[in-house]
Amino acid sequence: MTAKEHYDRHLGDIYAWMVGDFDARQKEHQQFLVASGLSPHSTSIALDLGAGHGIQSVSLAKLGYTVKAIDFNQQLLSELFDNTQRLSVTGFNDDIRQVKKYADPQPELIICWGDTLTHLESLDDIRQLVIACCESLIEGGKLILSFRDYSAALSGDQRFIPVKSDDTKILTCCLDYEADRVRVTDLLQVKTENGWQQKVSSYYKVRISPNDVVKILADCGLRMAFNEVVNRMTTIIAIKAVSR
Ligand SMILES: C[S@@+](CC[C@H](N)C(=O)[O-])C[C@H]1O[C@@H](n2cnc3c(N)ncnc32)[C@H](O)[C@@H]1O
Repeated sequence: MTAKEHYDRHLGDIYAWMVGDFDARQKEHQQFLVASGLSPHSTSIALDLGAGHGIQSVSLAKLGYTVKAIDFNQQLLSELFDNTQRLSVTGFNDDIRQVKKYADPQPELIICWGDTLTHLESLDDIRQLVIACCESLIEGGKLILSFRDYSAALSGDQRFIPVKSDDTKILTCCLDYEADRVRVTDLLQVKTENGWQQKVSSYYKVRISPNDVVKILADCGLRMAFNEVVNRMTTIIAIKAVSR
């Protein structure tokens, strides 16, 4: 399955449940933005790529940005719409690779948070997205990425990751490593009137390492302002140069 099919047929329905307390996650994210000095300074336009149900969009809007939130899953965009009522956020059902369509007026911040980057098809696809983001940003604008480091393969029993469970649902993730990609299988058990039922769906993520991404950013002339692991995700803030 493609990543889009996986979200449309499987993960979109349970994504909010999987993430848990929206307000708590949103506040944590907003604190990160504030602590990193990411309040608006110029155009106040922000693009949220792979916005999901809106955690990052809400944080950005609360800091004063006008946000364009792009995602290809309609279910999550509808939830984003509910979660961003009365905030300056507009949702767009589109592929994040179309980022340049949303760059007029130019954004001063582009965020791609929560491992969305690895949902693309290849390292080259990621490079093309970063180039498009760099071309879209104003001078001095910031690109914020967070993604999982899949460079070290998990093996044997380590490949089975308990993601979330409650009285009626159990979600387990299984990872199968290939040379350049990792097959992600989400195994959902749901309690129904007729007992437990199983739903399985797989898709691929790109096996990127933080160094791969740092190199792409450097090739685009972006300066690294932050590169640390936050909540088990490599988190990078890169800044577009100002011409003299
Ligand atoms: C892991 S979720 C992250 C959502 C959100 N940023 C968060 O942290 O909660 C990945 C999101 O990206 C979206 N997505 C993945 N690839 C995409 C693409 N090529 N174009 C648009 N949306 C994409 C999925 O529909 C999903 O909402």
